[in-house]
Amino acid sequence: MTKASSRLFFTYILVVTIVLTAIGLITLPLVIGDDKIIVFLALLGCYIIFLVIIYQLFDRYIKPVKKAAAAAEELVQGNFRARTYETQYGDVGKLSNAINLLAKNLQEMATQEKMQESQLRTVIDNMESGVMLIDERGYVHLVNRKFLNLFGKKRKDYIGYLYYDVLEQERIYKAVQEAFLYEDKVKTAITIVKEIEQYYVEIVGAPIFNDSNVLKGAVLVFHDITELKRLEQMRKDFVANVSHELKTPITSIKGFAETLIEENMDDKNIRSKFLDIIYKESERIQALVDDLLELSRLEKEEMHLRFEQINITNLSQEISTIIQQQAYKKEIKFVANIQNDILINGDPYRLKQVFINLLNNAINYTPQGGKVFLEVKLLSDYLQIVVQDSGIGIPEDDMNRIFERFYRVDKARSRNTGGTGLGLAIVKHIVEAHKGYIQVKSEVEKGSTFYVYLPMHKNIS
Ligand SMILES: Nc1ncnc2c1ncn2[C@@H]1O[C@H](COP(=O)(O)OP(=O)(O)OP(=O)(O)O)[C@@H](O)[C@H]1O
Ligand SMILES: [Mg+2]
Repeated sequence: MTKASSRLFFTYILVVTIVLTAIGLITLPLVIGDDKIIVFLALLGCYIIFLVIIYQLFDRYIKPVKKAAAAAEELVQGNFRARTYETQYGDVGKLSNAINLLAKNLQEMATQEKMQESQLRTVIDNMESGVMLIDERGYVHLVNRKFLNLFGKKRKDYIGYLYYDVLEQERIYKAVQEAFLYEDKVKTAITIVKEIEQYYVEIVGAPIFNDSNVLKGAVLVFHDITELKRLEQMRKDFVANVSHELKTPITSIKGFAETLIEENMDDKNIRSKFLDIIYKESERIQALVDDLLELSRLEKEEMHLRFEQINITNLSQEISTIIQQQAYKKEIKFVANIQNDILINGDPYRLKQVFINLLNNAINYTPQGGKVFLEVKLLSDYLQIVVQDSGIGIPEDDMNRIFERFYRVDKARSRNTGGTGLGLAIVKHIVEAHKGYIQVKSEVEKGSTFYVYLPMHKNIS
């Protein structure tokens, strides 16, 4: 029993006691003899009956109502675990049952809401794009993990602050203002410089309205488009490079052909010289187109290498014979050290390309009288191919870039050798398609060494 209800209970008892005592005091002097005892006993009986009735009334009606009121108060304050005890007596019983049911439903709803909130938070936090939510006055209410990754600082440095106090980019201010002003979606882009890296971020801002269509704030979504931009730039560079590579031989073919057409060439020698140039230039275009096709074939994901067991010893010896002749012509000393009977799973045609490209480079970029060395040997898990030369070497700044398409250290010089600048890009692709890797060490004027490692697993496809 609560304090208040017990006070009421005792007040009623006190009133009944006073009333019955008063009746006793008035009636008892009026009766005489044994009647006094009877009247006293009757009054006592009445008193007891009253007590029982009052207690019953309290227990069945007043106490449950008070309990129900207390439970309702707890519910109002947000404690959905509050319950009242259930009785079966009439309307009071119905009331307490209804309150308990209400409490149970509220508790379930609150649990569900909490669950949904945590699910939503997890989704927002794990989104690939940054999200910022601001209210109609510009205060930040929510930022997700990706947003913090992009802009740095902690969540607490944004929440509760005005967006223009915590963000620096003018374009974001403009986007928010436009979203508020035109009540429509806006798109813009910014660059963020973090340490030394630059990020391109596309921003989409959208106003938020409540049920009565009143503007309640805005949500800004930040997409990191750095990778996309990089790919776009690569594509542009690629097109520019291909056009540039084709321009020189085409101009030269056109020029010589025009001269042949316009001028009456009687001198057979000059004519055949011109035709020879035209032929060489067209060969150059063909080599370029072949290499480009080869690269695009290698880049296609569906491209499957034709894996088979190959005797890499035989394959490298065959290539050595061809290279030996080239080296001999250029007065370069070529030495090959090939381990016996190495079998490997791989695509023989592609692996041949790796050897030829690397060895051709070694011969091309080594002056007369230099040395080229080929070594093929088995390490514990890998096949190691070493192509070493005593040539011109590669400056340190260019070392990482020589595997890019069209990249040449000395543009004029390697173009003179007939190179397209695609050889090493093709080599790298092939090696990686075999799950291997390639490394290079070089020193200018001293020479370069290329190391290729191919895994010896039985099934690399
Ligand atoms: N052994 C080497 N020594 C010095 N520089 C090299 C060597 N190998 C490659 N390079 C440099 O790397 C660049 C890229 O080589 P890559 O083989 O991709 O193209 P390329 O030889 O110019 O033309 P190609 O596509 O016909 O092989 C070369 O232009 C050259 O500057
Ligand atoms: Mg080359």
